[in-house]
This record gives sequence, structure tokens and C-alpha cells, in this order.
Amino acid sequence: MTPADRASALRAEIEQHNYRYYVLDAPSISDAEYDRLFRELQQIEAEHPELLTEDSPTQRVGAAPLADFAPVTHALPMLSLNNAFSDGEVEAFDRRVREALDGRQGVEYSAEPKFDGLAVSLLYEEGRLTRGATRGDGFTGEDVTANLRTLRSVPLHLRGAGWPSRLEVRGEVMLWRRDFETLNARQRDRGEREFVNPRNAAAGSLRQLDPRVTAARPLRFIAYGVGAVSRAALPAMHSELLDRLVEWGFATASERRRVSGLGGLLAYYAEIGQMRESLPYDIDGVVYKLDDLAGQERLGFVSRAPRFAIAHKFPAEEAITGLLDISLQVGRTGALTPVARLAPVFVGGVTVTSATLHNEDEIRRKDVRIGDTVVVRRAGDVIPEVVGVLADRRPDGAREFTMPANCPVCGSRVVRNADEAVARCSGGLYCPAQRKQALLHFASRRAMDIEGLGDRLVEQLVDGRIVRTPADLYRLGLVALVQLERLAEKSAGNLLMAIERSKQTTLTRFIYALGIRNVGEATARDLAGHFGSLDRLLAAGDDELRHVPDVGPVVAESIRQFCSEPHNLEVIAQLRAAGVSWAEGEPQARPGGAVAGRTFVLTGTLPTIGRDAAKQLIEAAGGRVSAAVSKKTDYVVAGSDPGSKLDKALALGVPVIDEAQLRELLATGELRR
Ligand code: IVH
Repeated sequence: MTPADRASALRAEIEQHNYRYYVLDAPSISDAEYDRLFRELQQIEAEHPELLTEDSPTQRVGAAPLADFAPVTHALPMLSLNNAFSDGEVEAFDRRVREALDGRQGVEYSAEPKFDGLAVSLLYEEGRLTRGATRGDGFTGEDVTANLRTLRSVPLHLRGAGWPSRLEVRGEVMLWRRDFETLNARQRDRGEREFVNPRNAAAGSLRQLDPRVTAARPLRFIAYGVGAVSRAALPAMHSELLDRLVEWGFATASERRRVSGLGGLLAYYAEIGQMRESLPYDIDGVVYKLDDLAGQERLGFVSRAPRFAIAHKFPAEEAITGLLDISLQVGRTGALTPVARLAPVFVGGVTVTSATLHNEDEIRRKDVRIGDTVVVRRAGDVIPEVVGVLADRRPDGAREFTMPANCPVCGSRVVRNADEAVARCSGGLYCPAQRKQALLHFASRRAMDIEGLGDRLVEQLVDGRIVRTPADLYRLGLVALVQLERLAEKSAGNLLMAIERSKQTTLTRFIYALGIRNVGEATARDLAGHFGSLDRLLAAGDDELRHVPDVGPVVAESIRQFCSEPHNLEVIAQLRAAGVSWAEGEPQARPGGAVAGRTFVLTGTLPTIGRDAAKQLIEAAGGRVSAAVSKKTDYVVAGSDPGSKLDKALALGVPVIDEAQLRELLATGELRR
């Protein structure tokens, strides 16, 4: 046998063993034998570098580090699932599905565990893995191909036959519990920080710029569906689709099952609930999906979640612990949130030492006192909260909490409006706590996106009086930064670069970054779309503000207040003078339009509007509707029973959107990122 033949035989054999191990869960050789095959292949490749291939299993060790992750726009957004917390909510779900399917009884569902990991998308072109991406915000993720290639459960090329030429597989990256324990033991031995739970460890491991770090972490991929793929290539049922994915080389949940009707769903929930502790990985509920793919299409989506599927969550975990003290946290808008300081307790997979008490009224209602024994709840990534008190365990001398008259940080008066539950520090940006929060918000990912400007740094910058307003950030220099504790010259340089990069922004981001009360990202987008320029927004009166979709009296008043504060206008002027800029446009109501110059192709039946109406709306917003898909097409709008145009779009990588997203585009000129 020539070395070339031996190398290719070894590759096939190793991939076969990966498949048996990760997908079939039926290894047929020992780890030692596997290692022997692996080393033999490595040796051949070392002696004959010309035989090395990119998708050799030896190449899973990790490529060279990256400087940055490139953004990936998902051709079909990666949506979230609606949650059900009770049998009643599941019943309502089943009823909605049956109604949409003309009252059919005993609908078949694919029931699966809800994995507690990270969603990723794997793109295969002509059977080869060409791109792997994180979910990100559902619309745009990060290109982590080099990292995903290091997972042995991610096929580098598809097995078997019959796969479509372009296939996007979606699923979850996870750490199994025992691998998590091993990883933490290793971290301990090396004196490095331990991870709080498998999910966080998986997230940290996947978002590594150095793929060699990811390669050393035992991550696994488990598939639960597909993304952009031409339907013609797929079977009729979701459960069959998962079977097909197994044939093509992917692990799927061995606990998945086809069940029938509401009874089947609830029985499955009970069964998996029983097994939960003995499963090799963490789950936080189960997912029910209408099995019939054509039916799925008929049910479609509402806003960001499918109507054909639902997550039935397990109850949040609770624990009992001591309430040591109540402190106050000052938020960005001055809101004072009472926070319970707790004796450390392990709940929902992490050790919790503080929990929110929401506000003063809540504390009264639950009659929580310092020194009490309390019940704490934590679910998923949400902030832990104090659920209640074990009154019979109250010690003598347990103290009641009272809201102070002055802000604990800056001493300004604390005020509470009669119609509000929250008390606020009236210090505004005079209050260092509010200033810190405002700066963190300004720098956050969806605002100005200044990477590296985190809690600790902002703390030092504000406490050291180096930075008072966002505009001061653009005056920072290397000398000031390297004097700060724990900031190496390299990180300081990176931060300055990130600040410099942030100068080129969008109007939406800038408005959002200003941190105007009640103006979140969506409102910022509406305002940017409506006014097209910052000056027009700043000059707008109440009347004009109220013309913006979704802007009511409260939001309008917040904006007006913000704009009437000379200090705010001064900071804006300074930011502009420092070089912060964005492209301005005409107000969207005028000609030009939200989608000016963009080309759309329509296919299939849209849920609520006819084709002609859709065409009129697009043209009214400055767009063009064309009959054929080409590389120049900006969007294909697909409804039910789409034709070959959808296949063409998928083949060319043209973004495919639904009616809801079309409406969003027409209203705002962009898709929510
Ligand atoms: S299907 C259209 N199936 O849950 C919805 N998702 O809340 C597609 N997840 O980001 C999702 N296990 O990461 C689906 N068996 C499962 C899942 C699952 C976990 C995650 C997924 C998604 C989130 C949605």
C-alpha cells in the first residue's frame, strides 16, 4: 500500500470511529487503539506533507489564532422558541396547532430535550463544511468555523448520499457534565479559573480567537434541525429529517421521540423530567415541534418565534439561604434596586451570593427582613430573585429595610414619583454610579460597540476622574490608560483602536447609545428611520415625535427632556467634534424610502397580503420588485408554497425573509440585528 492509500484509509477509519462514538454511541475500539490510528496518520502526514489534506482528522487540533470573528448574516434568522410553563399552556399550544390544521385530532409531534448549550449553524456546500457560525442575536452571528472544525462530532464532510448541495444544519454546542468536571479539574490543577457551569464553559470555549484552545475543550455538537435548505431535498416529517441527519453524520438526541396529541406531549415531559438528572448533559425543558414540515410552513412564525413549536420548561430551581444584608444598586437612569446579599448557595447550576428584591414595595409585600431565611430562585440566565421568606425561621432582631433619603453613592436626594414603584437618585450624571452605567451602555455591543471597555475599566476611569462623559473617551491616550491598574500596553492599544473604530457608526446606534430614558434599540431605529438625521430629531417637537410609529406620550416626553438639557447637547457636539459620524438620510416618509435602491423577489403566498399589495408597499418605500433571482437580488420574500425562486436564492446565498421581516424592513430600512 502506498503512503497515500494508507493515509486515506486511515482517515476513513478514524472518521468512522468518530461516527460510531459520537453519533451511534457505539464505539468498537478502545481509546488506545484510536490513538494509535491517529498517530500513524500524523506520522505519515509529517513524512509526506504533500499528502496532508485540509479535512484530515489530524487538522482538528486547531488552526492559527484569529484577530477577530467575522460577522455572518444568517440567510434564515435563527429564532427563539416561545415558552410554556404549565400543562395549560401546552394545551393551548396544541389547540392552536390543531385549529390551524383544520381541527385535526391527535397531531403528531417530534418531542426533544431542550439542550442547555449554545446554538450554532453549520453550512455544508457540496457536502463539505464551509462555514460555522454562532447564533448571535439571531440575525447576525460570528464566524467560528475554525473552532467548530475542532469538534469531532462536527462532520468535516457529509456521510452517505442524498444530501442537498447546500445544507445548513442547526444545533447546539454543549459540554457533557462529566467532561465539564474533567475540564474544571484541569483548570484547578493549572491554577486557572474554574467555570461556573457546562453552558458557560461551552460558550467560553467556542468564542476563543485561538482555535487550539477550543480544540483542547471536549465540546460536542448535537443537531436539532436545518436552516436554509431547499425543501425539495427533504423528507416530509421533522423526525425523518433528524433520521436523515444521523445518516449524514450528525448526532441527534437519543431521547427524541415522535408522540401523538396533548397526552403524548405531557407524558414525554414527565418521562424526560424523571430522566433529567441521569442524562449526560444539562437540559432546561423539552421542545415540541409539529412533525409535519408542510404543516410547519402553514403555521409559520409570529414575530421572532415559530407557531409550530414550543419549549416546555422545567420549573426554575429554588434554594434556601440566609439574607445577610440589603444593599442598593444604582442603575443607568438612577433607579435604586434593592439587592439581597446572601449566604452563598448553589442553585440553578451556579453559586449565588446576591439576588434582586426588585423594589421597596416588593420587600414590604413579601415582608423580607435582614437576617431572614429566604427562598431564592434562578432559571436560565436570568437574575436570581428572592421569592419569599420562611417566616417561622425569623430570628429576633431581624431588621426592616428602609429606602434612604439620599443616594448611597453620590448623596443626592432620592425621589419616588407617586405613580412609580421605583425610587431614583436625582443626581443624574453628577452621580458616579449613573455615569458609570451610562458609559457602559454607550460602549455596549449594540450601541457604539467599544470592545474592551468593561466594568472594571469604567470604574477606574470614572473614579480616577479621567472620564466624565462619553466624549471624554475619544480624548483618551495611551499614557493615561497604561497608568491604570491591570491594563497592559497591548490591551490599552486595543482599546484605543476599538474607540477609534467606533467613530464610524449608524444613526440608530448613536441614538441608542445616548441612553435616553425609554428609548431602546427598537425606538432608536424608528427614530433614525423617521427623522433620517440627528438634527431633525433634536429639533422635533412633541407633535412630530408622536408621528413616529410606537412613540407615545411617555417616550416623547423622555426625548424632549433629554434634548432640552444643555449638558446633553454639549456632549453630542463634543462627540461630533471628536469625529463620531454616521450616514444621514432623508426622512423615511419622503421619497427615497426605507428600501431605496434595493431589489426584491417575491415567491409563494404571503400570510396576510397579496403579491400586488406587497409590490406596491415595496415600491412606495423606494424598492424594486423583480421577477427573477440573481446575485443582484437583495432579498427574496418567501411565503408558503414557495417556488424554485427560493431554491435559487438559497443556492446563491441571497437572504430569504418572511412577511414580518419585510414589514420591518419597510418600516425601518433595516432588519433587527
Ligand atoms: S429548535 C425555530 N430544538 O433553544 C426554533 N431549539 O429558544 C428553532 N434549543 O436558540 C429551535 N434545544 O439553541 C430547537 N431541541 C431543540 C433545542 C433548541 C435547545 C435552543 C436553541 C434556540 C433556543 C430557542
